[in-house]
Amino acid sequence: MTHRVFILGATGYIGGSVLVSILQAYPTWEITALVRSTSSVGPLKELGVHEVVIGTHEDLELIVNLTSLADVVINCADADDLPLTRAIVDGVKIRSKINASESKGKPILIHTSGTGVISDQAEGEFMESGKKIWNDNSEYDIRSIPAEQPHRLVDLEVFRADLSEYCSAYIIAPSTIYGTGTGPGNRISQQIPTAVRTAVKRSQAVHIADLTKLYLLVLSRALSRVSEPSSYAKFYFASVQEHVWGDVIRQIAQILYEIKRIPSPDVKSVSLREEPDLRYLANNSRSMSERGFSIGWKPHAPSIEETLEEDVVATLAKA
Ligand SMILES: NC(=O)c1ccc[n+]([C@@H]2O[C@H](COP(=O)([O-])OP(=O)(O)OC[C@H]3O[C@@H](n4cnc5c(N)ncnc54)[C@H](OP(=O)(O)O)[C@@H]3O)[C@@H](O)[C@H]2O)c1
Repeated sequence: MTHRVFILGATGYIGGSVLVSILQAYPTWEITALVRSTSSVGPLKELGVHEVVIGTHEDLELIVNLTSLADVVINCADADDLPLTRAIVDGVKIRSKINASESKGKPILIHTSGTGVISDQAEGEFMESGKKIWNDNSEYDIRSIPAEQPHRLVDLEVFRADLSEYCSAYIIAPSTIYGTGTGPGNRISQQIPTAVRTAVKRSQAVHIADLTKLYLLVLSRALSRVSEPSSYAKFYFASVQEHVWGDVIRQIAQILYEIKRIPSPDVKSVSLREEPDLRYLANNSRSMSERGFSIGWKPHAPSIEETLEEDVVATLAKA
């Protein structure tokens, strides 16, 4: 059966890779992508995207309209844009009324959040909060994340859309993503390049190839209309391997030294005041992807250490 899909973030690291996976898994689907540059139209059309619309996240009427035309909406663009998310919710609300009048199921929304939602304020110090591991299979854990946390206001809007039955809404919250993406635009992630361009805390990571597999599994579950116990049971952390940022930074320094980009492999501590971009590496966010594993997610891509050299080289090539 052909579905109409609207994807946001198709030129991004996550969105581009998710788009390629969906095109491979569902070649007959009609995909519409919103992009802000005309230079993205050709590459996306070549990949098999049906319609490429030029616009930005500030074009809220356009977002409502494009969302209202879709059976499946996938937002891989921005985990923090509340007006954008509200416009998407307005769009699925319109779609759900049309679908109800035609006796069709609710539209599906897959939203991208991030494990920043459970990050603490350790800022490089050891704190009790660093011991807590948040489990996506615990409704208590997912319900109890405070509204003040990063991404959370947007996530709450998505939960509300599901609770209000405007759509069937799923949230995927990846941890640090590593590895080279497969999309037509940006192919590198955020945290590792941040470290390459400029800790001691525990965090987790997921390879982009494993992450796209989780999107496909969640999408397939949504399409199968599996009845879930609650809206909070549609939240998935995407995290696999735990790492300590200090170890990763030391390994990056060694790689940069070996390729003669820095004069010494020694690392030194810097304060967040000196390098505010490093704040994501200085806090703990520890999560357990039990829900993903329970629906058959089997991540097996190379580890963060195994792909680090590739990520460093890709970052330097883009810099
Ligand atoms: N990468 C990670 O490790 C990671 C982990 C967890 C969560 N996340 C979250 O996931 C989201 C996407 O991350 P990413 O790494 O895929 O980012 P990215 O590579 O920068 O992609 C962002 C995408 O959104 C589009 N976009 C951004 N602002 C826009 C606007 N105002 N109007 C139209 N399009 C806009 C970009 O378009 P252009 O191509 O025109 O720039 C691009 O397609 C972010 O919210 C991030 O915080 C990322």
